[in-house]
Amino acid sequence: MLYLFIIRTIPEPVKQGVATASEGASERLECPQANRHRDSDVTRIEIRRPDDWHLHLRDGDMLSAVVPATARVFGRAIVMPNLKPPVRTVADAGAYRNRILAARPDGSRFEPLMTLYLTETTTAQDVREAAESDFVHAIKYYPAGATTNSDSGVRDLERVYPVFEAMEKHGLPLLMHGEVTDGDIDVFDREAVFIERHLEKIRRRFPELKMVLEHATTADAIDYVESAPGPIAATITVHHLMYNRNALFEGGLRPHHYCLPLIKRERHRRALVAAATSGNERFFLGTDSAPHPKHAKESDCGCAGIYSAPAAIELYASVFEAAGALHKLEGFASLHGPDFYGLPRHEEKITLEKSDWKVPETVNAGDDVLVPLRAGGNPGWSVSAS
Ligand code: NCD
Ligand code: ZN
Ligand code: ZN
Repeated sequence: MLYLFIIRTIPEPVKQGVATASEGASERLECPQANRHRDSDVTRIEIRRPDDWHLHLRDGDMLSAVVPATARVFGRAIVMPNLKPPVRTVADAGAYRNRILAARPDGSRFEPLMTLYLTETTTAQDVREAAESDFVHAIKYYPAGATTNSDSGVRDLERVYPVFEAMEKHGLPLLMHGEVTDGDIDVFDREAVFIERHLEKIRRRFPELKMVLEHATTADAIDYVESAPGPIAATITVHHLMYNRNALFEGGLRPHHYCLPLIKRERHRRALVAAATSGNERFFLGTDSAPHPKHAKESDCGCAGIYSAPAAIELYASVFEAAGALHKLEGFASLHGPDFYGLPRHEEKITLEKSDWKVPETVNAGDDVLVPLRAGGNPGWSVSAS
């Protein structure tokens, strides 16, 4: 009896301690891993310079308008290839990279990490050239018709299996817009169905292929990435951490919250926050900042994509603060990504401070304007040194 009593009661204080530590009451505990302070008492944090592992920079005037917001804080970014026409070859990627470098503010050392757009005509030779280049870091899969500028995407996945084989051989990661496009699948279920029908099949067939499920939006995606064997990871956007699908309809239709994959139910948002703040190295920061002109968002057939770059790291900090997990921000934002891609972690640091400021209502981009995420709102954190 006594024995039973002991094993039932000993774990209790430990369990409570871990639970209260995340709410900040760890001062009472002798637990070295626990938070020393309430996150609400923390007003300043220093982290290694972060990177953005999923970013849209567009081209031309838009490119010049959006590069500075990312370059002010992120050291590197995986640049998505969904231009019109898409970035298909190493030569295309090299030329695009030069245009990005030319759009950097003076003195910026921001480094664009280029990707190729996978089509049904991509060859093993393209993969080899990409792997041999020192600036192409991945190949991006879009199902045809799934999202912005995806017309040249893949219709039949099996047709690109020879490309996956070459990628597996060369260690080049496959980045996935993980949604099916079948008209009979509910748009909120497209990611879960992709995992069930395709992702598992690809993983089994190419067990060594490095894969990133981009902009994960569901508990299904989190469960899958957490438990699948092999080199797999997921990026998580800040808007999917901040909002559930009610944000699409709050007091009316909200086109600036429209992105793909769609923002999901609250239970999915919670699963994403739990994954991002867990310290699990399979999850890392990818904003999917995707600028579209205001008129193209506020339209009877509005474009999918949320422009989050102007306050991205600040908003991530406020999500981590709310979860009592500021001490996990550095892993998610600055360590797990480079480790997955086999790149060095940054040595320099940035400082984030609690402070009040206002995200601009609009950002000029040539003759257009962009409406950033949380336009006119206060993210609660700002970058004080970078
Ligand atoms: C992205 C874009 O606008 O390029 N849009 C989006 O809603 N996320 C494309 C993408 O990442 O799917
Ligand atoms: Zn996408
Ligand atoms: Zn994207």
